[in-house]
Amino acid sequence: MNIIEFSNISKKFGNLKANDNISFAVRKNSVHCIVGENGAGKSTLMKILFGSYRQDSGIMKVNGSDVSFNSPLDAIANGIGMLHQHFMLIEDFTVMENVILGSEKTLNIKIDFEESERVLKEYIKKYNLDLNLNKKISELSISEQQKVEILKLLYRNSEIIIFDEPTAVLSPIEVLEFFKIIFQFKVEGKTIILITHKLNEVREISDYVSVLRRGKLVYETEKDILDLKVLSREIVGNVEIQDENTGFDYEGEPEVIAGLNNINLSVNKISVLNNLDLKLKKGEVYGICGVEGNGQNEVINILFGLEKNFTGKLNIFTDKISLVPDDRLKKGMIKEFSVGENLIIKKKECHYISNKCLKKTAEETISKYDVRMPDINAPMESLSGGNQQKVIIAREIELGNDLLIFSHPTRGVDIAASAFIHSTILQQKKKGKSILLVSSDLDEILKLSDRLGVISKGRIVAEFDRNQYNLQNEVEKTILLESIGKLMIGITGEQKN
Ligand SMILES: Nc1ncnc2c1ncn2[C@@H]1O[C@H](COP(=O)(O)OP(=O)(O)O)[C@@H](O)[C@H]1O
Ligand SMILES: [Mg+2]
Repeated sequence: MNIIEFSNISKKFGNLKANDNISFAVRKNSVHCIVGENGAGKSTLMKILFGSYRQDSGIMKVNGSDVSFNSPLDAIANGIGMLHQHFMLIEDFTVMENVILGSEKTLNIKIDFEESERVLKEYIKKYNLDLNLNKKISELSISEQQKVEILKLLYRNSEIIIFDEPTAVLSPIEVLEFFKIIFQFKVEGKTIILITHKLNEVREISDYVSVLRRGKLVYETEKDILDLKVLSREIVGNVEIQDENTGFDYEGEPEVIAGLNNINLSVNKISVLNNLDLKLKKGEVYGICGVEGNGQNEVINILFGLEKNFTGKLNIFTDKISLVPDDRLKKGMIKEFSVGENLIIKKKECHYISNKCLKKTAEETISKYDVRMPDINAPMESLSGGNQQKVIIAREIELGNDLLIFSHPTRGVDIAASAFIHSTILQQKKKGKSILLVSSDLDEILKLSDRLGVISKGRIVAEFDRNQYNLQNEVEKTILLESIGKLMIGITGEQKN
């Protein structure tokens, strides 16, 4: 049975067709993934379903009846809940206050706190949410905040739950926990609509998939016939996607370009690096995977010369180091400056050259790195995340440095841009550069690295060579991934109950 039907939904912003005549249905009690690149129109369509936007034309049915929502309150009254890309929580309020606030149960009526608390505690237990109702939002991690949003949906008895890129902010282990919650929703008979960029997640969890491209529905498929290659082609359209690079073999022992030996570092008397050993070699991608905040940033800062208060031995055989930082907005660019200026900002020789030369250099780089934008005078902040990232990567690579550090290079970046960034990294490796890749996306690390190190509590707790993890056997692969996942969260050795 179809619980939702979209018929010929269109929505324009100015001249831009964000949704262009979209028709498809969502089956009751299914997990329906909506995929597509940044700007494809996914959030817009879901905001129409949730009553935040009104379509210009087209009809929506919920449970077989035509609906016309004036606001999210109407959608909520129809059993629809939405978890937005950006959370909508009040930092200074407690979990409990945030959940109860604005729910229809509290309008007009006096709140029965004890009853609400009882109900919420039941949900927390049932869905294994592990939340303290009395904590303030400001004290919670991102994944805990997401759980608060989930609790809100439960409290409002949402039967149809829309998640807009919920896993973008989660570590791999948190993603697994999140999937458990989704499965539980399904057991309860709820319908889940999930927007995601990550195709391995689609494979894991979807019953049905709809692909949007440039505002149009271009492809639909379902679990039993799902082919990820076809899916990714449909998502990006005609763009060439480079497959995983296989040129990982080199002759002899490569030259070491940087070595960290027995490094210890404390910040405010708290140990953040703990006997850490690491070697980076020429012509090699070394991947550090771990849950964020386990010392990754400190390793980068030490290599980059920003952190000096450590003990242990640091050998670096180059001072030509490039960094693509984790937080591109804060650390990677000057967002008010133009794309051109951001591109040449680190090139000393460009500071003396003419505008014309600057323009030529910038334009050549833009086309080489396939940055999509109106022109080089556009301010950096007007570009999409993927294109901003390409500008930063272009600038850092064009410096021609020997050691290239990439921290979460494809976070929040769409599939086509991710593929481009990955092949750019591999090309640099082929040129003999030494590459340090830091990411919490294990798939990315596995795809690109020659060696990987798992970081936990300020220490590389295990290292693997590519031939150990580039396994064809799915069972072996799953076992290895599980053990890497455990190492990431600090479980070592056998767990006995
Ligand atoms: N409120 C808005 N005003 C103007 N343009 C918008 C607005 N919301 C979205 N858009 C534009 O509509 C297109 C689709 O956006 P969106 O639905 O957010 O895409 P997605 O969620 O697939 O990344 C984009 O080009 C975006 O810039
Ligand atoms: Mg979106």
